[in-house]
Amino acid sequence: ATHKLLVLPGDGIGPEVMAEVMRLIDWLNAEGVAKFDTETGLVGGASIDADGVPITDATMAKADAADAIIFGAIGGPKWDGVAYENRPEAGLLRLRKDLGLFANLRPAVCYPALADSSSLKRDVVEGLDIMIVRELTGGVYFGEPKTITDLGNGQKRAIDTQVYDTYEIERIARVAFDLAKKRQNKVTSMEKRNVMKSGVLWNEVVTQVHGREYKDVTLDHQLADSGGMNLVKWPKQFDVIVTDNLFGDMLSDIAAMLTGSLGMLPSASLGEVDAKTGKRKAMYEPVHGSAPDIAGQGKANPLAMIASFGMALRYSLDLGDLADKVDQAIAAVLAKGLRTADLKSEGATIISTAQMGEAVLAE
Ligand code: NAI
Ligand code: MG
Repeated sequence: ATHKLLVLPGDGIGPEVMAEVMRLIDWLNAEGVAKFDTETGLVGGASIDADGVPITDATMAKADAADAIIFGAIGGPKWDGVAYENRPEAGLLRLRKDLGLFANLRPAVCYPALADSSSLKRDVVEGLDIMIVRELTGGVYFGEPKTITDLGNGQKRAIDTQVYDTYEIERIARVAFDLAKKRQNKVTSMEKRNVMKSGVLWNEVVTQVHGREYKDVTLDHQLADSGGMNLVKWPKQFDVIVTDNLFGDMLSDIAAMLTGSLGMLPSASLGEVDAKTGKRKAMYEPVHGSAPDIAGQGKANPLAMIASFGMALRYSLDLGDLADKVDQAIAAVLAKGLRTADLKSEGATIISTAQMGEAVLAE
């Protein structure tokens, strides 16, 4: 099969790290290992400069038609003055919203060679491989009412509303269980059913989906606060964690710091399964931003971007074996002591963005 990819490099270091994914894709195409049909589009500041908007309708149409979107990073001081609705980030938000990307996958993998850069002790994180599945389009970030009211007595009242419907919990639970089946077969659901109605429903619906469709997967439930404690106490007890938008935001950032640098963290955002094609809309991007402080200097670490491409191979393109090879190549390069400047450590050899991409390809 030919895999249709929309490549959106974006701004700052986005194009620099994306060039290293293109290096892999070009090689895979040339060697006939897999067949990719790539189209490149503008997003963020680059699109504002060219077309006056952070993403055009034409690019959105291409995103809709692609098997997967790979996204670099957007933003930078150049666009600080742009109106809020039209800022670079609005391009990313439109992609997430219009494509209905409700499931955010954030793996936290600790490569043995980087275990000493973690915030935790080596034995706690070495070999760590967990997946946090965060609900991305519901919950307290979007629920109505969402207001600040003047109470007239010198006091104001702020209201955010946590809303979850059964279908939203069912579909995110299915994503988590499906992932677990390809991993260690274990899901931990986190909420606060002791104090939140949405936590009660979350717990109930996840339990029902499990009982109906995924009895062979191990499911346990933790309260999100003590779950967070367990995440930093002994993270290797987890395989897949599924949780809501707010708790997922916090828990995934915490988990990220168990693994070392921002330049190492990939992510995926998945939508509903299309009834016609049986495939999901999906976008893959590094967690980091456009890093204007190092842009244009060949210093950016391309491994988060390359690992994001690896996730696209695994979750959208049914190329799991190739994804394994990408992950193994990253581990091997790090084990040889090759590092970009953000991963500086004793005895390591500091190399450029392009040299890192070459090293991964060589592996
Ligand atoms: P950032 O992630 O761009 O950078 C934070 C720090 O980490 C910087 O010191 C940077 O040099 C370093 N860093 C990040 N990625 C790196 C990599 N691959 N290799 C080596 N070092 C790396 O976050 P920051 O500085 O808060 O935001 C910069 C711009 O990026 C802003 O315009 C922000 O809005 C945007 N941004 C975009 C995101 C996206 O496209 N999804 C996410 C976060 C921020
Ligand atoms: Mg966050």
